[in-house]
Amino acid sequence: MNIDGKALAQELRDTLAVEVKQLKDERGITPGLTVVLVGEDPASQVYVRNKARQTQEIGMISNKIDLPADTSQQALLDQLHRLNSDPAVHGILVQLPLPSHIDEALVIETIAPEKDVDGFHPMNSGGLCNGDPNALVPCTPQGCIMLAKKHLGDNLSGKHAVVIGRSNIVGKPVALLLLQESCTVTIAHSRTQNLPELCAQADILVAAVGRPEMVKAEWIKPGATVIDVGINRIPTDDGKGRLVGDVDYAEAQPVAGAITPVPGGVGPMTIACLLKNTLEAARRFG
Ligand code: GUN
Repeated sequence: MNIDGKALAQELRDTLAVEVKQLKDERGITPGLTVVLVGEDPASQVYVRNKARQTQEIGMISNKIDLPADTSQQALLDQLHRLNSDPAVHGILVQLPLPSHIDEALVIETIAPEKDVDGFHPMNSGGLCNGDPNALVPCTPQGCIMLAKKHLGDNLSGKHAVVIGRSNIVGKPVALLLLQESCTVTIAHSRTQNLPELCAQADILVAAVGRPEMVKAEWIKPGATVIDVGINRIPTDDGKGRLVGDVDYAEAQPVAGAITPVPGGVGPMTIACLLKNTLEAARRFG
């Protein structure tokens, strides 16, 4: 069966819209999210537009700052300092990737940790690592856990989770969240040996490698819960291309107990969790 990320994201946004209204009525605070986009990467422009629309739809204030691709690092840092001290801004997101002349780590460290709704600041990633409940948690990993729980229920304790991928944005944080849920966690990556056999032991398999349809049916334990984080565009005869995940969906679907489709699985949950983090930041520091 499929785990419907689109429906779950809609449910979450509906709940958030009610909570945003409550925060306005009770404390006079309207959560504000500012997204900073440097350059004109077409994929980033689509993401940023979607974020802005969904932010407004649940009653929060959305601001977008467009900077040219040749913006200096210092100009970007100055902009972030202004946003850090603006009380109407509760969440700041700098869309990645950044142009190569800008130091990504420095930019992330410049965002005030309490406004870092991506959860990428070392204060937040350190907090997640130490189990600090106040850490802002990266959005895609949060979405993965919610999707797994949608199928398995709230108790993931004792399950063997295999995460393929070790990025700071998805692989590492999702592994830490699964550990927090008392899963037994294996992190696999490009140098892992016997990857198919290892994956076939997973009760929960999270694929976050960015390789189109890499995970095949034999890699999946019958009945496993498969969370596919990949969003890869592959060429098609009509020239339009097609979005596929890191899992070969057609093969894997009959073997898995439940699987997230691409599109319509993890993707919609990421933005919904970004809105959740923004509300959380506004509640705590508004
Ligand atoms: N680019 C792709 N995914 C993300 C994300 O989750 N956050 C930011 N800031 N940029 C991204």
